Amino acid sequence: MEDWNARQYVKFEDERTRPPRDLLAQVPHERPRRVVDLGCGPGNSTELLLKRFPHAEVTGLDSSPNMLKLARERLPQCRFVEAEIAHWTPDAQTDVVFANAVFQWVPNHEAELHRLLTALPEGGVLAVQMPDNTAEPSHVLQREVADSWPWPKDAAVPPSGRGGLPSPEAYYDLLKPIASHLDIWHSVYNHVMANAQGIVEWFKGSSLQPILSALDAPGREKFLAVYGEKLARAYKPRFDGKVLLRFPRLFIVAVK
Ligand SMILES: C[S@@+](CC[C@H](N)C(=O)[O-])C[C@H]1O[C@@H](n2cnc3c(N)ncnc32)[C@H](O)[C@@H]1O
Repeated sequence: MEDWNARQYVKFEDERTRPPRDLLAQVPHERPRRVVDLGCGPGNSTELLLKRFPHAEVTGLDSSPNMLKLARERLPQCRFVEAEIAHWTPDAQTDVVFANAVFQWVPNHEAELHRLLTALPEGGVLAVQMPDNTAEPSHVLQREVADSWPWPKDAAVPPSGRGGLPSPEAYYDLLKPIASHLDIWHSVYNHVMANAQGIVEWFKGSSLQPILSALDAPGREKFLAVYGEKLARAYKPRFDGKVLLRFPRLFIVAVK
């Protein structure tokens, strides 16, 4: 995918950092030797790992130079590497692989999860969180606008959104045969946004990136305006004018 708009992503850092906090609270390892934050982004999730595991060697890995630049500025004491998850394998000292909000972007991610858990040492933990929100109006409307967009005939069709995630049962059947302990759950967050435009701003930093990067500046503006109008009809203001962005997320904690 295109490089991430890192500054846009950190606009909602408090809200975006709540799921990695909730995921980390369930990681059953007290003294890991090495910890790797896959898809570390601007370092918000890496910072949580450094605090929880002060004695571990913590590495952040991401494919985006923009994100890594912010992460290095934020945590100069930490090691960051630019790499694709599909090209990375944990070494024998890596006890925790943490991946918050990244595997939804990784092609064939189920096979990658299986490969990474297999590679961990006994007792090693793979902790993953992915948005499970493709049926929410925020995503349905992104697809709706992209699918009706007047893309030129010869243009490479931009992806109009991720597909939905497999069921918890499918992850159970995939990972339990190689896990001594497996915990899978959903949490639904209701993020308070100033208004529907806030939802546009939120997704400009994440799922809209592939679509927006296929458009020129006027096209982007137009796309966001059409999407914003649809959102304003779908997300009604509460008594104080704010709107609630309903956001289901899937969590997996697997111990080898
Ligand atoms: C939504 S951000 C998550 C950032 C952070 N982990 C957090 O908890 O907020 C997803 C990150 O995954 C990175 N990413 C996406 N696909 C990747 C891949 N195949 N390999 C490595 N990083 C990837 C993106 O560059 C982006 O920084």
